[in-house]
This record gives sequence, structure tokens and C-alpha cells, in this order.
Amino acid sequence: MKLFDVYPLYPIEPVKALGAKLWDKEGKEYLDLYGGHAVISIGHTHPHYVKRLTDQLSKIGFYSNAVQNSLQTQLADKMGQMSGYYDYQFFMCSSGAEANENALKLASFQTGRRKIIAVEGAFHGRTSGAVAATHNPKIIAPFNDGHDIVFVPMNDLKALENAFDDDVAGFIVEGIQGVAGLYIPESSFLVKAQELCKQYEAVFILDEVQSGAGRTGKFFAHQHSVIRPDVITMAKGMGNGFPVGCVLIAPSIEPWHGMLGTTFGGNHLACAASLAVLEVLKEEQLMANAAKLGAYLEEELKSIPEVKEVRGKGLMIGAEFGFDVAALRKALIFNHGIFTGSASNKNTIRLLPPLNITQEELDQFLEALKIELKK
Ligand SMILES: Cc1ncc(COP(=O)(O)O)c(C=O)c1O
Repeated sequence: MKLFDVYPLYPIEPVKALGAKLWDKEGKEYLDLYGGHAVISIGHTHPHYVKRLTDQLSKIGFYSNAVQNSLQTQLADKMGQMSGYYDYQFFMCSSGAEANENALKLASFQTGRRKIIAVEGAFHGRTSGAVAATHNPKIIAPFNDGHDIVFVPMNDLKALENAFDDDVAGFIVEGIQGVAGLYIPESSFLVKAQELCKQYEAVFILDEVQSGAGRTGKFFAHQHSVIRPDVITMAKGMGNGFPVGCVLIAPSIEPWHGMLGTTFGGNHLACAASLAVLEVLKEEQLMANAAKLGAYLEEELKSIPEVKEVRGKGLMIGAEFGFDVAALRKALIFNHGIFTGSASNKNTIRLLPPLNITQEELDQFLEALKIELKK
């Protein structure tokens, strides 16, 4: 059987990794400024993560959500402490799309309505509702097209106000738009969204799938503003490579048996991986490292004349050039062994390194970038 060919692949196969480094089959070393798409938060094969997962696997790796699993309650407690959302409820699933699908479903259950307001440029995943709320017609199949979704431009307060009415179930926005090219919702936009959700009794959903788990220097990117969404989703960095996602749900939304569900979500290994991530984030103060090194990277990038704009927060950064960066990114990989990310904005390089990256590793990237820009 051959693979269903949906990914354009680099001719590179990493077989080993540690921290922000990868090695391919031939032993060539790579520097990871992409984190496998913002997934690697505490660094590849972190010893505490490896130990917690292997210890857990040798005890019990999985049982279904029909039985008690105290790892879930431990994780919920720890998540409450780390995020500051102590009084919220915690639901686990296995991916970002699934987390958003559940968040949209919760908004609809809570309000009895169907309409969702989303933001232009948004990416929320590839399942039915999540992809319908994604602003990319190319990946929306006719089957997904029946949802009632309205898109408003990012940071357009008037358009946001005009989109709200009594049919709106919820408003969904990314903490920072990642796939689009690192666009930040301004505080005033988030505050307005919160006010409108309150006024129309709609559910305010923050998609922190990519921007959560400490990546921006705070636990969630929206915590750079003074808002408190009703529902928050997270995945990617939460498991450092173990497929796990979650939904944080305000106390005002009451659960009933069968309202949400999943086979794999919250299994023992997923909990062990997520607990290990939270423990390392705290122990090694990786959010502070993300804030400090993110500010350093931003300043250094701004001093490069070819860089037109730097957007983002912490270690979720986009550098926009005056040209398509595809060739530059290729040169960084093949001439310098440095992985970076792309964005829908073709002129933007997306940087999503592990949160324990060092300044020396960032300097290695900056040097390579300058060499390529001089060519
Ligand atoms: C903001 C955001 N939401 C949702 C998703 C979907 O996550 P997953 O690929 O785990 O389904 C992504 C993935 O890139 C994302 O960036």
C-alpha cells in the first residue's frame, strides 16, 4: 500500500532528537526552529518526559473513560494552577481540531444556536466545524460547507459588532493567528468580543491550540490581555509530541453525561505526557525563557534590513520579508541544517522553537539567515 500523498515532503528523515536538535539517518545535525509545528514545547526527548512516559507505560498505558483515572484529576489540578483557570472544567481529547470541534459544539449546546463568528485568516483544524470556521475555502469540502459561519476581519471592532445578533452561538479566535502568519488580536478587539458575547449570551472561545502551553511567555497568549473567555482549547505543545488536546470550560457551562466524549482522550499516557510538560515548564521556568529569548530574537530580527516586520510574542514569531521566503527557508535547511516554518503569508518565516532553546542556538540561526540574505 502506498501513502496517501497529501504532504510535500523534504528528503530528510530525522531519527534522533534532543532539545532543539535533530539528527537524520546519515547523522547530519539540524536545529529545530519549527518544533514540528509548535508541538515541541519542553524540547525533544526531555529526560523527565521520557521517564514519566516510560514509567507510565510499564504500569498501564490505556483504559477507557468508563473507569476512574486519577491522572486526569491530577492534570486538571495542575492545569488550573498553571493557567490560573482554577474554577474551570477540564475535558481531554487527542488533537487541536477535536478540541475546537468540542468547543464549537459546547457553544451550540449552551445557546441552542448554530451561528459562529470567526476571524479572517483563521485556522482551527480540519474536522467538520473546525474547518468550516477556518478561512481557507481550498480545504473545505462541500460536506463541511453547511455550517453557519460568518468571518470578520481581525481587529475590526465595527465589523465584529455588526456580525453579532441573537442567532450567534459563539465567537472563536486564535490567541495569535499562527498559520495565517502571526497576526495578533489586539486587546481592544478581545475585550469587545467578550462584551458582545456577554450582551448576546454567546460563548467566547479562545483557540490556544498553537499559542498555548507557555509559548508566548504566558500560559495562554490571550493572557497578555485582560479577558476571560468561556472556553479555551489547547493541543500541540501540551503533549510535546504525544497527541493530546483539551478544552477548558467555564463553570457556567454545565455538563451532562454524553454531552462530549472520546475513546482516546485523557488516556494514561496522554496524562503522563501532559503532566511531564507542565512539570518541566514550571521547574525550568520555560515561560520566562520564552519571553526573554523571544524578545531577544525579535530585536535581532528587527535589526536585519531585509526584515520588513516582526510579529508575534515570546517564541511564536513571524519575520516578514519583501519577497516569497520559500527559497530562503530551503537554503536554511539544506545549507545550514535549520528548520523553520512557513505561513499563508508567503513572505513570512514562522519561528516556533522549543521553549528551552538557548541564545547560542538562536544566534546560529541569525548568522545563517544573514549569510543567506547576503547571497
Ligand atoms: C490555531 C490552531 N487550531 C487548531 C489546529 C488544529 O490542530 P490539529 O492539527 O492538532 O488538529 C491548529 C493546527 O495547526 C492550529 O494552529
